[in-house]
Amino acid sequence: MNESRKEGFMKKVDAYMADRYNFNGAEIEGVMQSGLRKPVMKGPIAILPNGVSSYEDFNNMTADEIKQKDVFPYKPLAHPIHSTAHMVFPDEWNEVHPEHNRMDMDHDFPDEYLPEFPAPLFLTTYKELGDVSNGKEITITNYWELFNGLLTPEQMEGLKELLRPSPTTWFNQTTHRITKAPSAGGACFSCHVNGHTNAAFELAPDARPNLARLRVETPTMRGNYNLQLLASKRSVRSMDHFAEIEEYFDGDPMMQQAIGPRAHQKQVANRMGDFNSIIDFPPAPKLGPLGKLLKEKANEQELRGESLFWGKAMCSQCHSGPEFVDDYMHDLQVERFYHGRPEGPIKTFALRGIKDSPPYLHDGRCPTLHDAVEFFNIILELDLNTKEKEDLVAYLLCL
Ligand code: HEC
Ligand code: HEC
Repeated sequence: MNESRKEGFMKKVDAYMADRYNFNGAEIEGVMQSGLRKPVMKGPIAILPNGVSSYEDFNNMTADEIKQKDVFPYKPLAHPIHSTAHMVFPDEWNEVHPEHNRMDMDHDFPDEYLPEFPAPLFLTTYKELGDVSNGKEITITNYWELFNGLLTPEQMEGLKELLRPSPTTWFNQTTHRITKAPSAGGACFSCHVNGHTNAAFELAPDARPNLARLRVETPTMRGNYNLQLLASKRSVRSMDHFAEIEEYFDGDPMMQQAIGPRAHQKQVANRMGDFNSIIDFPPAPKLGPLGKLLKEKANEQELRGESLFWGKAMCSQCHSGPEFVDDYMHDLQVERFYHGRPEGPIKTFALRGIKDSPPYLHDGRCPTLHDAVEFFNIILELDLNTKEKEDLVAYLLCL
């Protein structure tokens, strides 16, 4: 039944998305994601509501006006089936992993607006090797041949665990509902592919009921070694702990009888943490050791963007240090601009390597970096003009 409804349902979902975003396929000329498999897309593509003729108009409107006229272009994004929810993988992933294909729905973003697949993997321990994935999706069958000789036994075991499918609420050894092969399970790297992300989304596990839960896109695992704060709201403080709790993503004790006990006990989770803590960002050849642009490598526009980032645009107030993150949660008070439930404090995400992980914000509501800059220009009331916003994007592409 779900299957026969899927086509009609996805037409509605696509129509909703087409109402919000103009997925026009425009690329930023000459800029690729780090594995050189996908271009970085150009924006802003959020559709301007009636009554707003250009993004610059927002500079002349107060928060109250934007809210009253109901013209905020970056309202939260819901899960297309928010009441049932659970994980949704991108088409590109499902083509290779048909076991994760849902009977009732598909991902609502076109593949070109998502991270490249498979993403490259960089290790803090082997900078000189560059991408150690050899352009492949790392799987439980090929991890040994790819990493033998590079990893310690603990890291190797940890990697295996990150690749080993385990039961989750919907991917487990019961006969049921939403995929044809639920017994295949899901692994950490099903969403955090090659230690990065494929933009699979879910509802955050930190609230109940489902309708109160925020849609969350999979964050990258790159650079987790420096982060003190993991997950948008749960403030998890270590990777080991994360591996323990993440296995039961929904944390639903009602399901436990059907799914079976947790497999990731402390010793196992520790090893997963060992591998996690060597996943690095892609190289950023224009940044020097102080995290500042190297004058001889950066162009004028990028340098102007850097000055804005650290000055007028105030980005550095929350995005600074080696990963361009402050490790705090902030209440951006976005509800000042739209009618709806406030989302509350969310952790700041790191901006190192940011061009590789669209779509942006916890729920992916900003499909491109241009949209993320427009978002902050509105909510922080920065009054940036078009040129300044372009400069900021040029800078973000260097990080
Ligand atoms: C269904 C896809 C999916 C799977 C499978 C998955 N994750 Fe995640 N992961 C997410 C999402 C979505 C978030 C964001 C959660 C939030 O904001 O609360 C996340 C967040 C994280 C974070 C925090 C990242 C940050 O920047 O704050 C870590 C670390 C992590 N996951 C590790 C794991 C580990 C370890 C496993 C396997 C045990 C795993 N994940 C399995 C989707 C997934
Ligand atoms: C008050 C703190 C604060 C300031 C100032 C700030 N940010 Fe952020 N930034 C955040 C938080 C918090 C998030 C996560 C918000 C969410 O997911 O809802 C975020 C997310 C982002 C993201 C998306 C990251 C991802 O992985 O999806 C980008 C891009 C970004 N910020 C760029 C900027 C730029 C550019 C500026 C300056 C114009 C800026 N930020 C100013 C706190 C801040």
